[in-house]
Amino acid sequence: MKTFLKVVAFSVVVILFYAFYASYGIPQIKPEAPPQEEKLDLGSMTMYQFIALGDKIFNGKGTCTLCHNPVGGRAPVLDSVASIALEHMKDARYKGKAKTAEEYIRESMLEPSAFVVAGFGVKGTNDTESPMPNVATGAIGLNEAEIDAVIAYLQKKAGTEVTVKIPVGAPAKEEKAEAATAIAKTPDELVAKLGCGACHKIAGQVGALGPDLTKVGAVRKEDYLRRSVLDPDADIAKQCPTGPCAAGMMPKDYKDKMTAGELEMLVKFMVNSK
Ligand code: HEC
Ligand code: HEC
Repeated sequence: MKTFLKVVAFSVVVILFYAFYASYGIPQIKPEAPPQEEKLDLGSMTMYQFIALGDKIFNGKGTCTLCHNPVGGRAPVLDSVASIALEHMKDARYKGKAKTAEEYIRESMLEPSAFVVAGFGVKGTNDTESPMPNVATGAIGLNEAEIDAVIAYLQKKAGTEVTVKIPVGAPAKEEKAEAATAIAKTPDELVAKLGCGACHKIAGQVGALGPDLTKVGAVRKEDYLRRSVLDPDADIAKQCPTGPCAAGMMPKDYKDKMTAGELEMLVKFMVNSK
C-alpha cells in the first residue's frame, strides 16, 4: 500500500511537472534582442560581414520572412533563387531587363511584377501582378546598401558566386531602430512597426496579400478583429487578393510583439475603419 501511494504521488508530481512545463516551460517566445542599429561602416566591412548584414535584414527589418518562409506558402522560398534566376529570365512571361542573377534579384525587390512566379500573382491578373511590395518604399524602406547586402546573402545561400560589391560611400543608414522598439503612439506608427501593410491595405499602406482592411470595421465586430490579430487561424477570411485565403498565411506571433495598449489601439482603429 505504501509503495502504491508512493507510485501515485510520484506520478502526480510527474504529471504536474509536465502540465506546468507544457504551459509555461517551453520557450516559444523568443525575446527579441533590442535591435541595435550598427553604424554601417561599409568601408571597413568584410564580405562575410556584409553577407551577415544581409541575413539580418532578410530575417528582420526587411520583413522578407513574413512571406518567404516554408510554412504558409504565401511566397516562394528563396534559398536557391540566385540559381533559379537564370531560368526565370528565360521564361516567356519575363518582362524585366536583368542580365545576371544579381540584377534579377535586385529587380525582383524593386519591381516585383517584372516576373511573377507562377501561381503567386494577384488573383485575376493571370500572374502578371505580384502581391510583393517594392521593398525600397513604404514601411520596409530598404536603402541601396541594404538591398545589396540582401542580394549577397541570397547568392551565398544558393551557393552561387557572390557578385555584389560592398558599396563605398553609400548613404548613411536611416536611424529606424528607435521606432522599432518604442511603444507606438498612433495607429499609423503601430501598423508601420508591425508590418501589417506588407500584406494589407491599411493605414495608407497598400499590401496585396491579405484582405483590404480599410473598411473592415463595417463588416467585422471588435471581438473578431482582436481574435484575428491574436490568433489568425481562428477564423479564415474568404477572399484574399491572390485567391482564397488559407490558414497559416498571416503570422501568428503578433501577440508577442505588442503591448496590451497597442493591441487595443489597433483593434479600435480597425473597428473605426468604415
Ligand atoms: C507581402 C509578402 C512579401 C514580402 C514582405 C516580400 N516578398 Fe518577395 N515575393 C512575394 C511573392 C508572393 C513572390 C512571388 C511572386 C513574384 O514572383 O513576384 C515574391 C517573389 C520574390 C522574388 C523572386 C522569386 C523568384 O523565384 O523569381 C524575390 C527575389 C523576392 N521575392 C525577394 C524578397 C526579399 C529579399 C524580400 C524582403 C526584403 C521580400 N521578397 C519580401 C511576397 C513577398
Ligand atoms: C504576411 C502577410 C500578413 C501580415 C504581415 C498581416 N496579415 Fe493579416 N491577414 C493576412 C491574410 C492572408 C489574411 C486572411 C487569412 C486569415 O483570415 O487568416 C489575414 C487576415 C487578417 C484579418 C481578418 C480579416 C477578415 O476580414 O476576416 C485581420 C483583421 C488582419 N489580418 C489584421 C492584420 C493586422 C492588424 C496585421 C499587423 C499587425 C496583419 N494582419 C498582418 C496576411 C497578413
